[in-house]
Amino acid sequence: MITIKDKHFEPFIHHEQIAEKVAALAEKLNTDYTGRNPILVSILNGAFMFTADLVRHLNFDHEIQFAKFSSYEGMETTGKVKELIGLSLDIKDRDIIIVEDIIDTGTTMHNLIPKLTEKGARSVEIATLLMKPGKLQMPLSVKYCAMEIPNEFIVGYGLDYDGIGRNYKSIYVVKE
Ligand code: IMP
Ligand code: MG
Repeated sequence: MITIKDKHFEPFIHHEQIAEKVAALAEKLNTDYTGRNPILVSILNGAFMFTADLVRHLNFDHEIQFAKFSSYEGMETTGKVKELIGLSLDIKDRDIIIVEDIIDTGTTMHNLIPKLTEKGARSVEIATLLMKPGKLQMPLSVKYCAMEIPNEFIVGYGLDYDGIGRNYKSIYVVKE
């Protein structure tokens, strides 16, 4: 068990299982993106660890960009998305893979996809480590998802509680 600030968390997804799922997702991308030189848009901060592990399995040419938005405060989504770091590469006519840690309400992705399409992207797909299908509030098609989880708050492997806990190599779930 781990404790972060006022919350206790228990083991949920072991790092070996995460590694297997990340490798399997990378294989799907290897099949679909060879020869397309896509841009991976990694969403900071949460997706940094997933991105680093994912790209080590990719065997096609690609570029990596980081973008930053913010919707969460503590354990609650605020519903509004702020752009904190934008894209610098020209994405016109490029295939985009958004690399995200977790899709919760879908607000972040729902706001980002039209921005990328407006900038002339040829295609935009989402590759997420985790998804909480029970919390999705936006129409969103997620082509690449490594794992689906119930509506619970988790930390570790890039995900934080109030800024803390991103460093854990396994994923932990909050104890009520
Ligand atoms: P959405 O916009 O509601 O889909 O929220 C997505 C963002 O909220 C993710 O990129 C995470 O940063 C954050 N988030 C959602 N669920 C969790 C969680 O269980 N733990 C930590 N962060 C989360
Ligand atoms: Mg995030």
